[in-house]
Amino acid sequence: MLQDTHQRIHDYLRISLTDSCNFRCQYCMPDENIQCLPNKHLMQVEEIVEIAKTFVGLGVNKIRLTGGEPMVRKEFPEILQKLSELPVEISLTTNAVLAHKYIDQLKAAGVKSLNVSLDTLDAETFKRITKRNQFQLVWDNILLLLNEGFRVKINAVAIEGVIEKEILDFVAITKNLPLHVRIIEFMPFEGNHWNSKKVITATQMLKWVEEEYDMVKLKDEPHATAKKYKAIGHEGTFAFITTMTEHFCGDCNRMRLTADGKMKNCLFGSEEMDILGTLRKGEDIVPLIRTSVRRKHSVMGGQFAKSYKDAEASTIKNRSMIKIGG
Ligand code: GTP
Ligand code: 5AD
Ligand code: SF4
Repeated sequence: MLQDTHQRIHDYLRISLTDSCNFRCQYCMPDENIQCLPNKHLMQVEEIVEIAKTFVGLGVNKIRLTGGEPMVRKEFPEILQKLSELPVEISLTTNAVLAHKYIDQLKAAGVKSLNVSLDTLDAETFKRITKRNQFQLVWDNILLLLNEGFRVKINAVAIEGVIEKEILDFVAITKNLPLHVRIIEFMPFEGNHWNSKKVITATQMLKWVEEEYDMVKLKDEPHATAKKYKAIGHEGTFAFITTMTEHFCGDCNRMRLTADGKMKNCLFGSEEMDILGTLRKGEDIVPLIRTSVRRKHSVMGGQFAKSYKDAEASTIKNRSMIKIGG
């Protein structure tokens, strides 16, 4: 069992399979020259499986595959298949642009749920955000995933100047579709031009929604990142991920492995443990995993002052989102 010094049990591992992506969203990747890791620095398939097995031996029961975009890793189907042999729930966070190619493999691996990143319901805005003209394919793939029986959550980052116009549209799509929309407060990462004025608070967004819809608060899942609501009569749900205004660290059960095999004990933790390097030296990785968990801060990697309004992106030590995996 992996328990930290704040009595939190860590049983959820997020594994980034790659730091490349077929989209170019600014809030996720720095806009300087994008340098992807050379293949030899990536965890190789057998290494991913061995590291995952070790974590499972320590109590992990949920693994989420992230990226960059996990499906652009050429060994994605092989990794999925091998991890599916472990006694864990497997999920993915994806932009869904390649999802239609992997429906059978996802089913065979027992994947029940996918989180799809989609920040806008407008094709032109989509092109502006992602620098790719693929709204229709993503939307079709979301419908395909629903039709094939997967549970689908949509992650939309609340970007100033966009979400204000669309927030009600995001509620509207939950009317006849069993979709779970989650609006995420914009978070600071290296190179993403964050400042506190660009954060639209969940409180503000909920006010806009409640002016149009009768909303009920639903019970949140254990360790949930999202605070869930439902518009009365709608099939799907609507939620906010309130990292900036109301953190949910007290119940955190998450650990992260970057694509180059570094363990992060927190999304905002600056300390990294070289799991892959240790494995490649033929040494035991368990002590390193335990040390990482033990050193975890109670809140936000110990990096934020009380209010997000006081935060300065330049003082936060962290990788860019694309190099963490979300
Ligand atoms: P579920 O397992 O479906 O609840 O997904 P998840 O919310 O754990 O993962 P997902 O990759 O969909 O992340 C959604 C958003 O929540 C992203 O913006 C993540 O960066 C953020 N998020 C996920 N885990 C954490 C966390 O431990 N801390 C913080 N602050 N944000 C997180
Ligand atoms: N702030 C909030 N959410 C972000 N994501 C990526 N960058 C940010 C950011 N700066 C979201 C993506 C994806 C998830 C893993 O994290 O939209 O759904
Ligand atoms: Fe856990 Fe860190 Fe996220 Fe807080 S910020 S919920 S401690 S990963």
